[in-house]
Amino acid sequence: MPYRFARDRENYELYASGGVFYSAPGHAAFPVRLANEIFGRCMALWDADGEGRRCTLYDPCCGGAYHLATLAYFQWDRLARIAASDIDPDILALGARNLSLLTVDGLDRRIAELDDLFRQFGKASHATALENARILRRRLVAFTRDHPVETRTFRADATDQNAVRAGLAGTAVDIVITDLPYGQRSRWHADTVALNAAQDPVRQMLDSLLPVLAPGAVVAVAATKRTRIEHEGYRRAGRFSLGKRQTVFLQPRG
Ligand SMILES: C[S@@+](CC[C@H](N)C(=O)[O-])C[C@H]1O[C@@H](n2cnc3c(N)ncnc32)[C@H](O)[C@@H]1O
Repeated sequence: MPYRFARDRENYELYASGGVFYSAPGHAAFPVRLANEIFGRCMALWDADGEGRRCTLYDPCCGGAYHLATLAYFQWDRLARIAASDIDPDILALGARNLSLLTVDGLDRRIAELDDLFRQFGKASHATALENARILRRRLVAFTRDHPVETRTFRADATDQNAVRAGLAGTAVDIVITDLPYGQRSRWHADTVALNAAQDPVRQMLDSLLPVLAPGAVVAVAATKRTRIEHEGYRRAGRFSLGKRQTVFLQPRG
C-alpha cells in the first residue's frame, strides 16, 4: 500500500461525488484519499522559497475539479490559490461549480439547492447531502476566517503554451496535480494538438507548463501505467502506482 501521507481513514463519505460535490454522468471522480496522498508527496518535494509559504495549485486537465475542491477541505492551511483549466467548456463549468464550494456563499447556494431537492423529492440521499453540506459549512467558516483560498478557472488546451500562460495571467504555479485523459472515457482533445499530431500530448503539456512554474515547483501526473511521462526539462523525483494508475512526480531542472 503506497499511502505515506493520507494514512488515516477519515470520513470520506462527507466528500462523496454527487452528494455535496457536483458530479456529471460519465465523469469518474478521482479518489479523495489518493489526491491527498499525491498532494502530501508534492509538499514533501516542494522547495518553497520561504518558511510556511502557501502554494498555488494548478490542474491543466481539471475535468469537474472534484479532486481539487475536496482536497482543499483537507489541505486548506497549505493552499493560497487553486487554478483549474480544461479544454471542454461543459466540464469546466462543472469544475467552476465544485470550486465555488470553497466559499461560504457558494456552499450556501449548494445548501439551498439540496434543500429544494429534499423538499421536492424527499430522498434520503438529499437529506444526507444536506447534513454533510452543513458540516462542511462549519469547517469552511473556520477556514475562511483564517484565509481565503482563491480560485480561478479558464478554458485552455493544456498543450497550448500560450493559452495556459494567458489563463494563469502571471500567477506562478508551485504544485501541479493532474489526472491525464486515459483514452477510454476521457481522451485528449485538441485545439492545437492537431497541429503537432506527430508529438506526444503529454510532452506538449509538460512543455507548456515549464514557463509557468515557480522555482522549486513539483508536477504530479497521474495516468495509466503504460503512459510515458518524461521530458528532458524535468527530472523524475518519484513515482508510485496504485491499481491501474501510476503517479509520476517531476521537478523542472534548474
Ligand atoms: C481524466 S479527466 C480529469 C478528471 C478530473 N481529475 C476529475 O476528477 O474530474 C481528463 C480531462 O482532460 C480533459 N482534456 C482532454 N484533452 C485536453 C487538452 N488538450 N487540454 C486540456 N484538457 C484536456 C478532458 O476534457 C477531461 O476533463
